[in-house]
Amino acid sequence: MNEEIASARERKLARKKWKEEKLMKLLNKSLKNKSDEEASPALKKLKPTENVDIENYKRRSTVSIAVPGSILDNAQSPELRTYLAGQIARAACIFQVDEIVVYDDLGEEESSSSHSDVNEARPCCLQLARILQYLECPQYLRKHMFPLHKDLQFAGILNPLDAPHHFRQKDTTLYREGIVVKRPVKPGRGSMVNVGLEKDVPIDQVLQPGTRVTVRLNCDEPASETTNGNPQRLKGKVVPPWQPRAHLGKYWGYQVRIAPSLSAALSDCPFQEMYDLIIGTSDKGSKDMPALIPSSDHVLILFGGLQGLEAAVENNGGELFKSVAKDMTNMCDLYLNTCPQQGSRTIRTEEAILISLSVLLPKIVLKNSGSSNVSPDA
Ligand SMILES: C[S@@+](CC[C@H](N)C(=O)[O-])C[C@H]1O[C@@H](n2cnc3c(N)ncnc32)[C@H](O)[C@@H]1O
Repeated sequence: MNEEIASARERKLARKKWKEEKLMKLLNKSLKNKSDEEASPALKKLKPTENVDIENYKRRSTVSIAVPGSILDNAQSPELRTYLAGQIARAACIFQVDEIVVYDDLGEEESSSSHSDVNEARPCCLQLARILQYLECPQYLRKHMFPLHKDLQFAGILNPLDAPHHFRQKDTTLYREGIVVKRPVKPGRGSMVNVGLEKDVPIDQVLQPGTRVTVRLNCDEPASETTNGNPQRLKGKVVPPWQPRAHLGKYWGYQVRIAPSLSAALSDCPFQEMYDLIIGTSDKGSKDMPALIPSSDHVLILFGGLQGLEAAVENNGGELFKSVAKDMTNMCDLYLNTCPQQGSRTIRTEEAILISLSVLLPKIVLKNSGSSNVSPDA
């Protein structure tokens, strides 16, 4: 009995220490990000800046999923590997997932390096992340953004996402994704951007050719001004990538992050706050599905690989994390079996993503999601 109390106390202390370390990491990271953001505007994705009133965001909450890259290694052929990645991308888009974290669940021992650097990540993680990014990119930008790469050899045959930000040439829309084209810039003018329209659009600043940008077009302004009798030419203003979703409350695709371990997937949240709701999924999870899941700004739903989340914890570096997360209910706010009546002995990760998102998302109360994801009768 005394032993039980002592070990419970130890676990509690370990959990506290882990939380403290995580907080310190988050603090250090936010300091680091301040200087990184000055160097790289891309890092500002989904983060508010001082001149945006975040209370007026139509869509502020985010949904993230974490998936192990190793699932690709279970596919039987390069074509099936690619198709599997495409299934994850489509599931994420169907359920309006904002972030996909591709994490390494195999641990450092098996890899040739500590892959602290993204370029050193395990090949399966890199390939999954690359295909996810490729599919998220509007078609008209792909040939510019993705040079030929063996990871993408079969990506051309994948089903498209048909995401709301994948516009066709004839679509009239306030925001478009674009790429800065290589063309001499006239003095006093901005660069030209290919936004998937017949003609490239001038923007308000000079940027490096090849840069991907989100552009707000002046198509909402009255077209009264004319040049040589022609309607005023379309112009663009470069805006932060998160602006369309914040302003219009519209789904604008997902971002992809590679994490070297499960613990890094949990702690390196790219949004302003940390994940405030973590849900683990497994056939070993609780079958008691809550009617409503507490309100959240940034939810992260964890999926395991062939051996489940337990193996990802076991293969994770850091004894402290392992000892705490061994008990899944320490690591996750909820640890759930989302398909309690499964007929097959195993549900594959790509299937579990579709099942779990359709079961969980209607129950999660997101604080600010643009449109409510909780049905009125929930
Ligand atoms: C092949 S399964 C791993 C097998 C393992 N028995 C398990 O669920 O932990 C791969 C992943 O699919 C998800 N999964 C499988 N069955 C599930 C279920 N009934 N409920 C929720 N998630 C499930 C989990 O994320 C799991 O890590």
